[in-house]
Amino acid sequence: MGLMHKKILLGIGGGIAAYKCADLVRRLKERGAEVRVVMSASATEFITPLTLQAVSGHPVATEMLNPAAEAGMSHIELARWAELFIVAPATANLLARFRAGMADELITTIALATSAPVAMCPAMNQQMYQHAATQDNLTMLQSRGVTLWGPGIGSQACGEIGPGRMLEPLEIAELASRFLQADATPAPLLQGQQLLITAGPTREKIDPVRYISNHSSGKMGFALASAAAAMGARVTLVSGPVNLPTPKGVQRIDVESAQQMLSAVTAHLPKQDIFIGCAAVADYRMAEPADSKIKKNHDTMQLQLVKNPDILATVAAQENRPFTVGFAAETDHLEQYARDKLQRKRIDMIAANDISIPNQGFNAERNALKVFTKDDCHELPSTDKLSLAIQLLQLIANYKK
Ligand code: C5P
Repeated sequence: MGLMHKKILLGIGGGIAAYKCADLVRRLKERGAEVRVVMSASATEFITPLTLQAVSGHPVATEMLNPAAEAGMSHIELARWAELFIVAPATANLLARFRAGMADELITTIALATSAPVAMCPAMNQQMYQHAATQDNLTMLQSRGVTLWGPGIGSQACGEIGPGRMLEPLEIAELASRFLQADATPAPLLQGQQLLITAGPTREKIDPVRYISNHSSGKMGFALASAAAAMGARVTLVSGPVNLPTPKGVQRIDVESAQQMLSAVTAHLPKQDIFIGCAAVADYRMAEPADSKIKKNHDTMQLQLVKNPDILATVAAQENRPFTVGFAAETDHLEQYARDKLQRKRIDMIAANDISIPNQGFNAERNALKVFTKDDCHELPSTDKLSLAIQLLQLIANYKK
């Protein structure tokens, strides 16, 4: 009953996935939510307002200029009433109109008029989803605080396969439940816990002007630090070179190389309850970095590299070690490689992300994770990194008990 007495306004867009919204209303209600529904005009082509009225138990509004509907709960009252506004399916067209701030029909007007958090569940053909215009709209909406749930990946009504499926009603209801719980009670879950997090890339010196590094932006690690601090933890963040502000309430230690990162981690390890290795540590460093700039007077050049220490495995090998969580960024065989790392590094949990999916993972605003423990697997669908960080920390807190 994770949504007991929560007031959820569901805005249904005009896509084929609209037919799933009757089930979504039921799933939200069976968790205790009070649900009201508004529909875009085109949504009524896919599912009737009468069906939604029957499952929600309330009249369904579709137009703004309808005196009968406004005599009940006006669009402004609906916008004020909601504690969460879920838009599902959020079609490409709706996203573009939300991004433009249009108030051309009831559903878009409510998005402007509500002060409630807004969660959108994109659903559309995979090409439309991956189009730069849609991605740009999604990024802009996220930067304004909209939370994105999904889309899922798989076969689509149009016969294609790819990202663009609306998440299943059960998943959306679960996310709503976690979202409102996290929103309402972020503090207690990690209260009194001490967390050490590594983030960003490392930089391995070749000579005074050159280095070996990677594309990690540090955003996931910083989102984890920020969420953990908001959830009551004392957080130490050991970061490689990134261009990000220090999250509120977090102790930050800046390092460059893997060896420096290991020293900082080792120095702060005693008394930690949880360690999360989110950094993309360079696997190799120069055997002997040059003291002066290497001249380009040869057509080819060989650099001799030596392996860097594995910080995560080093932490996991300590006696009285903290609950230890690693990340795995993979382009293929996600589950196999992630499970292998879990075992080989002897860690408690691994969060794997598929970096072959466009706009996800490395240097992106959004991410999706498959989280493995020795016995279990949890899917955290694609969303912004802060929402994902909250969900991952909730999982960690539950397993650590
Ligand atoms: O083995 P791989 O680099 O894929 O493992 C990724 C995980 O291990 C991440 O959690 C990363 O932070 C950690 N790692 C580490 N030190 C290394 C290499 C990886 O802590 N030298």
